[in-house]
Amino acid sequence: METIGRRTFLKLASASAAAAAVPGLARDAAAGVATLASPRRSLPLHDGWRFHLGHAGDTERDFGFGRFQRTYAKAGTLTADAAMATFDDAAWTAVQVPHDWAVTLPFAAPKTAPTKDTADALAAHGYKAIGRDYPENSVGWYRRLLPEVTSADRGRRLWLEFDGVFRDCLVFVNGYVVGRSESGYAPFRVDISDYVDTDGGPNILALRADASLGEGWFYEGAGIYRNVRLVSAAPVHVPQWGTFVRSEVTGAGARVLATTELANEGDAGARVLLRQAILGPDGTIAVQLDDWSGTLAAGQRMSHDATAALASAQLWSLEARHLYRLSSEVLVDGAVVDRYETPFGVRAIRFDAEKGFFLNDKPVKLLGTCNHHDHAGVGTGIPDRLHAWRVEQLQAMGSNAWRSAHNPPAEALLEACDALGMLMIVEARWNSTEPEAMAELERIVRRDRNHPSVILWSVGNEEPHAKNAHGAAISAEMVAAVRALDPTRPTTQAFDNSFTEGATKVVDVVGFNYRTDQMAGFHAKVPGKPILGSETGSTVATRGAYANDAALHVLRAYDTEHPWWATTAEEWWTIAAAHPYIAGGFVWTGFDYRGEPTPYAAYPSINSYFGILDMCGFPKDNYWYYRAWWRPQEPLVHVLPHWTWPGREGQPVEVWVHGNTEEVELFANGASLGRKRMERNRHLAWQVPYAPGTLEAVGYNGGKRVAASQQRTAGPAHAVQLVADRRRIASDGRDLSVLRAEIVDRNGIVVPDSDALVRFDVAGPARVIGVGNGDPTSLEPDQAPQRRAFHGLCQAVLQSRGGSGSIKVSATAAGLQPGTAIVLATPALAT
Ligand code: GAL
Repeated sequence: METIGRRTFLKLASASAAAAAVPGLARDAAAGVATLASPRRSLPLHDGWRFHLGHAGDTERDFGFGRFQRTYAKAGTLTADAAMATFDDAAWTAVQVPHDWAVTLPFAAPKTAPTKDTADALAAHGYKAIGRDYPENSVGWYRRLLPEVTSADRGRRLWLEFDGVFRDCLVFVNGYVVGRSESGYAPFRVDISDYVDTDGGPNILALRADASLGEGWFYEGAGIYRNVRLVSAAPVHVPQWGTFVRSEVTGAGARVLATTELANEGDAGARVLLRQAILGPDGTIAVQLDDWSGTLAAGQRMSHDATAALASAQLWSLEARHLYRLSSEVLVDGAVVDRYETPFGVRAIRFDAEKGFFLNDKPVKLLGTCNHHDHAGVGTGIPDRLHAWRVEQLQAMGSNAWRSAHNPPAEALLEACDALGMLMIVEARWNSTEPEAMAELERIVRRDRNHPSVILWSVGNEEPHAKNAHGAAISAEMVAAVRALDPTRPTTQAFDNSFTEGATKVVDVVGFNYRTDQMAGFHAKVPGKPILGSETGSTVATRGAYANDAALHVLRAYDTEHPWWATTAEEWWTIAAAHPYIAGGFVWTGFDYRGEPTPYAAYPSINSYFGILDMCGFPKDNYWYYRAWWRPQEPLVHVLPHWTWPGREGQPVEVWVHGNTEEVELFANGASLGRKRMERNRHLAWQVPYAPGTLEAVGYNGGKRVAASQQRTAGPAHAVQLVADRRRIASDGRDLSVLRAEIVDRNGIVVPDSDALVRFDVAGPARVIGVGNGDPTSLEPDQAPQRRAFHGLCQAVLQSRGGSGSIKVSATAAGLQPGTAIVLATPALAT
């Protein structure tokens, strides 16, 4: 949390805000808008991939990989059949990246697992048949032509940027092994300049990923599940993640320190000019930095610091996500050879041991959730827009913070957090100082340190050694590495015991996993240390269920059920809300996630029940508890359960109201059942004899009706209602709309026990890439044209196929009126 030292500023040449426009940036004379055509080419590789399963134990079924030690014996010679240009992949499946092959695998009942360990591994993966016992499912091959490489690339540097591949992958170009990445989560770069043919090709990219071993205890997916880019740059260029922009708010303005690396990967020295400017949120040049010029020898890499003063700065905040950009131009012999852009935000963060977290000097309670990274239908292969959609669902609840558990997030998720205003804890996957782990940590910090949404680096989670000297030494070394790369953000680690021992002493902010009741004791004993709840709450629930049924793996969605180590929502939040020294907390979890099927660690529970939202992002009732108290300025009441209980007439039903109004009155079929005061951060409950009709909760502030919520008895299922989250999407082959199918009665009331099978048919330039319903025991396929409703709801993710035009989606179910959604795909960006 160091600020930029005064001395650093004095030492470095200061930049002049009044300087003329950056010479190399083409400017629209009237508006002063810089146009940013770059001599660097950065091409997303989403399409054109082919996929086939290989085999972890059979050379021939693994396309010759490892045959007669060829992979490593002679470079480029028959390293594997599937790596060669001559290989015929016509029978392989066409796929788009991001892609998760594990989500398409069959489920395996645990009895097929030979040992207890492998049974546990199966449960961890949500009973997907992947891992050591399923060699036929655990290796995946990808192939793709690289028509993007042309004669224009002659003499240039070409590399691939992978944001994450699960896992242990080898990258081949034209039969050569060109790169390897062990981590399933860290981004990596592969230079392919020496292996490509710029005289017309063909150039074949192949990748073999081996997911036999996992890295977590949760569903991890498999394959190229994050974005990939091909970059073509001049020999002298800004290397990947080669910039670091820090800012310090100074009154109405800000001081900015930009560190920019330059690399000469050519074979001759070069006279280089680095010309940089900061572009404001409106895209115009806010300030020009001083030029740097000098000579870069062949193979030399250097780093240059420049400062600038912004006379007035538009701060990045949760309410206004102003983003600046550093534009770095590299000139050789007077010609612009590279342009690199770095989005960043100007904002101030700090943790105070007494008062919690501050953003731009204002206290902000961290209203957070922990999340893994899979979604219904697509597994871990989450397209960019779906990342943003997931952020939006949590924001609508009032959440302002996300802990990426227990691994670094996708870059696309961070971009969504920057754009939408969600604070982020980036977590390392591996609490280790082993060289590979340290290299992963460095790549993560270098990739993410310019994102204003990132507020903390986490170096571990519930590490068994955390309480002893080894754990302290390991975390200390990781913390030192992080600080060297980014002195502007604090570090943290999540602990579940021994809060005053070992590694708790070496991180800046101590994370409490559960054990909210021990926070006061810690605060008294270690008064100077900021704390937060790194995993909190953890109510387990099935969306739409109101009675437990252990045999069917069903949990009631009142805020009552939780594992022994956790608490209800109400228990932790009443404590956290009351104490400013608790910076906030991260509920375990925002969304249900596949794997780690808790509390029913048994087939056919394929996912956890922790989510405030289910696997599809449909809210469970606790959503309304959090929304009420995390958005207290908006009067809200929510009454539960649903009110369709045929056969239970006259019997008492437990009725709860979540809400934040001063008083709540409950009405059954118009008759008042009394008005009660809502205690802060609590809920209200009634016992109501069931009679079909309407149950209504009315909220009052100052005696005035300010909010209401109804549950009405549903009649027989009558129709499918289809609701698209966006009626207009970009026709870019990637953008998407999330469709919610509701089974409703004649009056439009959702039928709470409907499990109608809904079929989705698409006419127009889009396709359904995944379906789901939030049922933690559903064994239906995720990638199919249909899905059963679960408690009246199911979901389809509709993605552009690239063309423009109207897309008509029909949702049909036997005996019901079909539902229709019309979505327009247009070349313009979706709104
Ligand atoms: C924590 C752990 C999480 C998850 C959770 C389930 O101990 O850090 O990853 O396993 O328990 O309650």
